[in-house]
Amino acid sequence: MKKIMKSFVFAVLGAMMMVILYGCGSQTRGWEDNGQQLKKGDLIGISMPTKADQRWNMDGNNLVKKLEEQGFKTKLAYANNSPSQQSTDINNLVSAGAKAVVVASVDGTAVGPAVKQAKDNGATVIAYDRLIMNTESVDFYVTFELERTGILEAQTIIDRLDLKNGGGKDTPYNIALFAGSDDDNNAPYFFKGAWDLLQPYFESGQLVDPSGIVTKDFTTKDWKKISVHAWDQSQAQKQMDAIMTKLGDKPLAAVLSPYDAISLGAMKSIKNARPEMSPSIPFDSKNPTNASAWPIITGQDGMDIAITNIYHGAQAQTVFKDTSLLSDQTRDLLVDILEGKTPKSDKKPMNNGKKDVPTWLMNSDELVKNPKGEQKGLHYVVEVGFITEDQYQKDIKAPIIK
Ligand code: BGC
Repeated sequence: MKKIMKSFVFAVLGAMMMVILYGCGSQTRGWEDNGQQLKKGDLIGISMPTKADQRWNMDGNNLVKKLEEQGFKTKLAYANNSPSQQSTDINNLVSAGAKAVVVASVDGTAVGPAVKQAKDNGATVIAYDRLIMNTESVDFYVTFELERTGILEAQTIIDRLDLKNGGGKDTPYNIALFAGSDDDNNAPYFFKGAWDLLQPYFESGQLVDPSGIVTKDFTTKDWKKISVHAWDQSQAQKQMDAIMTKLGDKPLAAVLSPYDAISLGAMKSIKNARPEMSPSIPFDSKNPTNASAWPIITGQDGMDIAITNIYHGAQAQTVFKDTSLLSDQTRDLLVDILEGKTPKSDKKPMNNGKKDVPTWLMNSDELVKNPKGEQKGLHYVVEVGFITEDQYQKDIKAPIIK
């Protein structure tokens, strides 16, 4: 009898242990509970937003190359800028056996359920360039210094319009302002970087927005009033058309654009509305009433069209992100996990509304035709291997505002 009791007690204890162990396992499932969870030969899923934009093609190719060099297998999917396509892509990557997914989201919030499913299946989730919002199911975030984009853009405008020395004091300078896509968590940071520097010139009356939307009382929180959904060039062109109508025949001093394709949309609109305006006559604060002058236009990404437009004076600068830095960081992080280490960043984590996500921040560069100080010349894109010399030659020979 004693023996039977003893076996019964052991059986009950054993069952309890199993329940406890299983419970813990399912709660902490992910890279934390087992540093060796990734091994050589594991599949890493890569989900990029769109093939239509030069930079995401570079990002995707770099990731494939660098992860395969480490012995991982990879699968790369492009979502055609569709949030539902991206969820399908992530589900497919996980079904194909991905042990980690690297996601540059189309819509940072909409992608939440898909990454939760990935995480529930034991995959590590890395938010790439754009933070994935309002979910616990994101382990790491790699991106570039976000506000820096807007800071560099605004500094060029301030400098070229001579605002510090009173440019616009007599007759206010007209400026058109754009922010990035309303579903991209990066966009308000880009705008904040610029607005913190430009707002004082709205306050002093040196800058005005002809559309009347942006005034001195505008705040960073209002950014969606000037956002361009999906970073779309033709949408930007439409928004610029409305601004040009309000501007009438007055001079236009500057366009704050957070992305090279938005800049191009704005240029096309300017050309249609005011054919007399020409990049060969850049806006000059010494002759601010010249209504044929071409505005100071900013951008981001160092796209081929930007190289062309900057070379010929149609665009003033672009904020260039060397995407190989981001793919190197992503690789390093996955290799840490492979080696059983916990990836550690010395930067402040970013909060996504649900958790503080460990974050890595890369540095971007400003490209201009005639660099000063820290700025870089256009050829820098060749020097860092972003494009080939051949492509660069094609870019600088191509016609502007295509
Ligand atoms: C990226 C930018 C890019 C933009 C449009 C942002 O999330 O950070 O580099 O210009 O998306 O693709």
